Amino acid sequence: MIPLSDLPPVIRLDRLTKVFVTDEVETHALEDIGIEIARGEYVSISGPSGCGKSTLLSILGLLDSPTSGSYALNGREVSELKAWERARVRNREIGFIFQSFNLIGDLSVFENVELPLTYRGMLPKERRQRVTEALERVGMAHRAKHLPSQLSGGQQQRVAVARAVAGEPVILLADEPTGNLDSKSGEAVMELLHELYMNGATICMVTHDPRYARHAERNIYLFDGRVVAEPPEDLDVPHTFRTSNPEPRTPNLERGTRNQEL
Ligand SMILES: Nc1ncnc2c1ncn2[C@@H]1O[C@H](COP(=O)(O)OP(=O)(O)OP(=O)(O)O)[C@@H](O)[C@H]1O
Ligand SMILES: [Mg+2]
Repeated sequence: MIPLSDLPPVIRLDRLTKVFVTDEVETHALEDIGIEIARGEYVSISGPSGCGKSTLLSILGLLDSPTSGSYALNGREVSELKAWERARVRNREIGFIFQSFNLIGDLSVFENVELPLTYRGMLPKERRQRVTEALERVGMAHRAKHLPSQLSGGQQQRVAVARAVAGEPVILLADEPTGNLDSKSGEAVMELLHELYMNGATICMVTHDPRYARHAERNIYLFDGRVVAEPPEDLDVPHTFRTSNPEPRTPNLERGTRNQEL
């Protein structure tokens, strides 16, 4: 068995940039980003609105490509992956909780959670079990037959969380997963993420809320598209969280090594 320390970081970004060009206006959303995230690490990403958090997460989740620089996922340069390989990694390895939920409007709650598992080729019986379990975990089993439009924002968010965790992803990317939730539901979602983390998943969570950032092992701060060492001044982070590093956990090797298949 390969020792953990010899494995490459799950995520390694080097001098990565992202420039959006619209109507001849250039927006430098990410500039010179260099980040390493170890296997099984739990990282929070915070910074003011518009600083590039969602852009970064989309690139990490292979939903968008950088303009320049390098992104190595499990030691493999992402730009060299073929389209089918990218799709496979996205579908099998990565769970994504979008800031805007991205539920499919004409599918029921149950079908929304089930869809990624179907793409993965999972058998109906296992799908049903996984979907039911995930919906129960977020307290939405009683709404399984509803359409997203019949749910409140917080309820849609909980369905989006269920969809992301149902497939037990190796990497979970969560963009403000508690943004629309009351504190009780927010804590329940945090517990769910913590459980995935304890089982060896690597988690990157964007959050504005220092109470939730505290759940992470490491906090990354962005400002104007760049990584900064300290929380930006206009980010409301109490002093005690600035150096917080709650008890690190030894990642579960067995699940961590699944990444090597990539
Ligand atoms: N598709 C796009 N086309 C053009 N500009 C974009 C696009 N997506 C994002 N941007 C710009 O890139 C910058 C970073 O946006 P991003 O959505 O990553 O910010 P954010 O940190 O997630 O903000 P928030 O906290 O408000 O969600 C912003 O200036 C935004 O206007
Ligand atoms: Mg965002």
